Amino acid sequence: MRLISIDEYNPKLMQLAKPVFDKHRRVLLAAGRTIHPIYLKKLMDLDIRYLFVEDAISFGISMEEMVEVPTWIDATEIVQNAFKTVAQNKEIPIRDLQKLVIRLVNEVSKRKAIVLIPTSSLEEDLREYAHAVNVTLLSLQIAKKLNISQIQLKDLALGTLLHDIGKVLTKNEEDHMFAGFEYLRKVREVSLLSAHVAFQHHEAVDGKGKPRGMREGEIHEFAQLCAITNLYENTLSKEGLPPHEVLEFIMTKSGTVFSPDLVKLFVQEVPYYIPGTRVLMNNGRKAIITKIIGNLHRPYIRYLDTGEEISLASNYTLLITEVVND
Ligand SMILES: [Fe+2]
Ligand SMILES: [Fe+2]
Repeated sequence: MRLISIDEYNPKLMQLAKPVFDKHRRVLLAAGRTIHPIYLKKLMDLDIRYLFVEDAISFGISMEEMVEVPTWIDATEIVQNAFKTVAQNKEIPIRDLQKLVIRLVNEVSKRKAIVLIPTSSLEEDLREYAHAVNVTLLSLQIAKKLNISQIQLKDLALGTLLHDIGKVLTKNEEDHMFAGFEYLRKVREVSLLSAHVAFQHHEAVDGKGKPRGMREGEIHEFAQLCAITNLYENTLSKEGLPPHEVLEFIMTKSGTVFSPDLVKLFVQEVPYYIPGTRVLMNNGRKAIITKIIGNLHRPYIRYLDTGEEISLASNYTLLITEVVND
């Protein structure tokens, strides 16, 4: 299967590979079918921007680095419920969140890489919550390289799931970090560390961040992690940039917003090209990325003309020159 932008969809050549959900998380369109133009228009009206499809060139591509859609949707629902409960001044469903944290920690620990599902493959109403789930998955993936204890991993995950909880507590967007912190630090089951992730996730190492203008060394590592995954996720999902361009954008923030060490680690751990991406090679041939297992930056490719599959890890003279969309 591969991920396509919805305007690339061709009903003569493509079938839906993963279901499309509505805002109540019900299956709007099931996997395995072709999308009738009327439905396609409906999806576009809902502003759904990406689809998983199966077609002739996506054959054999499994995208196993991606979290299963049902797990992802469940997680999104739990976060949505938490945000809504807090907005209504009711008690935060902390048990559900703690269980979700364990599930996400396990999900990430069994995967070598994490490929995010863009939140824009969902209806608008759910994106904010799916964003929190994505930020958490990616933060946990990077945290694997940081020698963090299981307990602290859970604190990190709870902090990233709730990093924007302040948005339901204040009308002023600028205040959401402080509002979130003030709220979370009073919840007995939430550690101060998790609360600080919410407080510090818009700080920058050059001291120009918000709300306190903290500097490198003062900002907690987990909050920096949340900051970098937050920017990555927003740029990927909201701006719709492909992963390699998002990574280049992240690199431009090295030393100003993020510590250079963290950027370096981040770039090592996040794939440039996800399976299903079509690319042009430096020998002039078009290919499709089939898997990234083994070496994130030297994936396997399959030539579109001959169907031959090769590993870029063992063919060092071959380079990807650009991503192609036709
Ligand atoms: Fe935020
Ligand atoms: Fe965020």
